[in-house]
Amino acid sequence: MRRKIFAGNWKMHKTAAESEGLARDVVEGLRAHPTSSEVVVCPTYVALDRVAAVLTGSPVLLGAQDMHWESQGAYTGKISADMLQAVGVTYVIIGHSEQRAYFHETDETVNRKARKALAGGILKPILCVGETLQERETGLMEKVIQTQIRGAYAGIAASEALHTVIAYEPVWAIGTGRNASPEQAQSVHFFIRELLASLYDRSVSEAVRIQYGGSLKPENALELLSQPDIDGGLIGGASLKADAFLGIIASS
Ligand code: 13P
Repeated sequence: MRRKIFAGNWKMHKTAAESEGLARDVVEGLRAHPTSSEVVVCPTYVALDRVAAVLTGSPVLLGAQDMHWESQGAYTGKISADMLQAVGVTYVIIGHSEQRAYFHETDETVNRKARKALAGGILKPILCVGETLQERETGLMEKVIQTQIRGAYAGIAASEALHTVIAYEPVWAIGTGRNASPEQAQSVHFFIRELLASLYDRSVSEAVRIQYGGSLKPENALELLSQPDIDGGLIGGASLKADAFLGIIASS
């Protein structure tokens, strides 16, 4: 039985002080209504330290929104896995569609980052995949997902793959208010799980958690999260309000 995992991707929202407040509301909400799911919050880099302090002693884990594949060096504007680990980060989102669309993220850079995150057990990557509307409508969806998954996992051993999480985020569902239907999401999650079985084996494919992301909210969470291959959510907009984020978690 896979433990569900919910991650709030706060994207480029909230100052450090605002992030601290939101993290506190999440921690207090979960104290009042504990969950068996794993819960992660991913604030902006400048808020990581302050949010880490708020999360100390709580079950909520800290995540980051990206990282570089080198440990250090002349990479202006970038941050390394070791730096993230040093402030208490456990999970790192890699290959988000916004990174792919606006910041030249490719399957190769996703793979480099994932291998670095996993090296020496530094961080657990949340590997994002998803098709655009055009790709879906032209019948390319499975090919796109397969290429992204194969690319992300190139050279990653089964023992390391067990520490990864996949987020299926159809690009057309992100921030649009238009979520994938439970049937649409389930069929892609099943496709990804079968792909993992062919890349590794059943024990890996049955263990790796696959989150759904894209306009997930309390109103649609129950039907999406009750699908057999949906193991939680990567949540954008709704994670910026503690009540909505907690509402999604509570419906699992
Ligand atoms: P929304 O929940 O705002 O659609 O964003 C999803 C997302 O991109 C999470 O990474």
